[in-house]
Amino acid sequence: MSAPIAKIAGVTGWPIHQSLSPMLHTFWLKAAGIQGAYIPFAVRPDDALHAFESLKRTSLAGVNVTAPLKRIAWEAADALTGDAEKLGVSNCLYVRDGKLIGHNTDMEGFAAPLLAKTPYKTLSKRPAVLIGAGGASRAVIGALLALGIPEIRIVNRTDETAQNLVKAIDIPSLYALPWAQRSDALKNAGLIINATSAGMKGKPLLDISLDTADDDAWVYDLVYNPIQTKLLTDAKARGLSTIGGLDMLIAQAQPSFKAFFGVNPPAEADPSPLLIKHLTGQ
Ligand code: ATR
Repeated sequence: MSAPIAKIAGVTGWPIHQSLSPMLHTFWLKAAGIQGAYIPFAVRPDDALHAFESLKRTSLAGVNVTAPLKRIAWEAADALTGDAEKLGVSNCLYVRDGKLIGHNTDMEGFAAPLLAKTPYKTLSKRPAVLIGAGGASRAVIGALLALGIPEIRIVNRTDETAQNLVKAIDIPSLYALPWAQRSDALKNAGLIINATSAGMKGKPLLDISLDTADDDAWVYDLVYNPIQTKLLTDAKARGLSTIGGLDMLIAQAQPSFKAFFGVNPPAEADPSPLLIKHLTGQ
């Protein structure tokens, strides 16, 4: 009897060496006993459209897509799933019946830790504050709307970018407040989200005080490197509950794994210790 054909998937980006996805998926492949591999592919932005369109002529099951290729992936797809269509970018391409499907798992990845870890029914009745108006913010807004959050306040270092995002989405419950008023914006919010790159290793810290936050507010930082950002440390010192970016990283990877390898990652296989060890060097 011949051996089963290995299933191969990967992650594309430019650069790609920093991605934790190969470690994460390889961990799950091993835990699930699947004969397969998940590999990083550096793809130049200029070559990306052609590379993605060629996927269906290879034996790859699909690829995840990271910066700066998510829009090109969306354009390369023959068909889009609902979330990808809504967001206008794709972080997951897979082949089905000879067609390249563009999916986006960021909304699901953002929402899953909220549903799993927070008293979600209470939070979903209160305003949320979103810090940042870049690519990650769109997925956060999509998820918050889907979860029924009644009011979303956006603050962004560049006010105009927040205003433009609000205009583009054009929903009454979503509005921008000036960066200068970011402290006031936190009042009576149940959820405070950092979707900026501030606080990431090698980047400036996020310049915001949590003094005005409600005592029972939750702080969700999408940054996962470092694991303990200054924002999360400040929130804990203030007695607030927190969610770190590693939870979203893992939750957005789960549906991709299913799309590529046909099964969910084993529920008991928690990749957090491995990723924490890698990120902290401990
Ligand atoms: P992504 O796709 O990951 O969201 P992006 O589109 O480049 O990345 O967006 C980065 C976000 O982080 C933006 O909202 C950016 O604010 P500006 O619109 O003012 O650039 C925000 N950001 C980056 N560095 C920041 C900092 N030091 N303080 C506050 N916000 C910052």
